[in-house]
Amino acid sequence: MVFDVYNFVEAIWVIMPAFAANGLAPLARGRYPIDFNRTFGGKPILGKGKTWEGLFLGTIVGMFIASLMGALYYFLPFGISAVPLYIVPMNMAIGLFLGFGAVFGDAIGSFVKRRIGIKRGRPAPILDQIDFMLGGLLLLSFIYPVKISWVILLVIITPIFHLIANTMAYFIGIKGEPY
Ligand code: CTP
Ligand code: MG
Repeated sequence: MVFDVYNFVEAIWVIMPAFAANGLAPLARGRYPIDFNRTFGGKPILGKGKTWEGLFLGTIVGMFIASLMGALYYFLPFGISAVPLYIVPMNMAIGLFLGFGAVFGDAIGSFVKRRIGIKRGRPAPILDQIDFMLGGLLLLSFIYPVKISWVILLVIITPIFHLIANTMAYFIGIKGEPY
């Protein structure tokens, strides 16, 4: 179930808009912190790495990618699969929940990091890699059924993709650190 190719294809498909939202948010190079530089218990609520610009860009990117995927949906070769695939028919609304959910989950991750004393930009292994993915799927689940087998698989494979993508973003200069 979790480790078969069908689950893999379904999970990668559904999470694409969230991946794109999270991956491109750093391009915003935002200046306006979501937490308005406020603190909680002497530490930043979220920190300067979570900005309104990043929130808007991530959400828009999620909506844009999901719209593209929605158009593509009708041309997918469903016939080549031995079992019926549960491919989410993407649209802008689903992209809104996936994209906003990704930025939201990422911000929750920062909230947790600040509470346990990890400074902005410092790594929190696992959390840094899966917070946005869990946020995207959580919000999507409010409007669309989400399979638990996707969540389990993505918890395992997202850190690997995230590491590869971030290392690339680091060398291109989009991100300041490779995590
Ligand atoms: N970014 C942003 N707004 C967001 C998310 C990300 O502006 N909502 C930008 C910031 O410039 C941020 C960069 O993308 O520094 C990288 O994102 P991330 O690694 O998630 O943030 P960090 O700076 O590492 O901060 P944190 O420790 O809170 O994760
Ligand atoms: Mg970071």
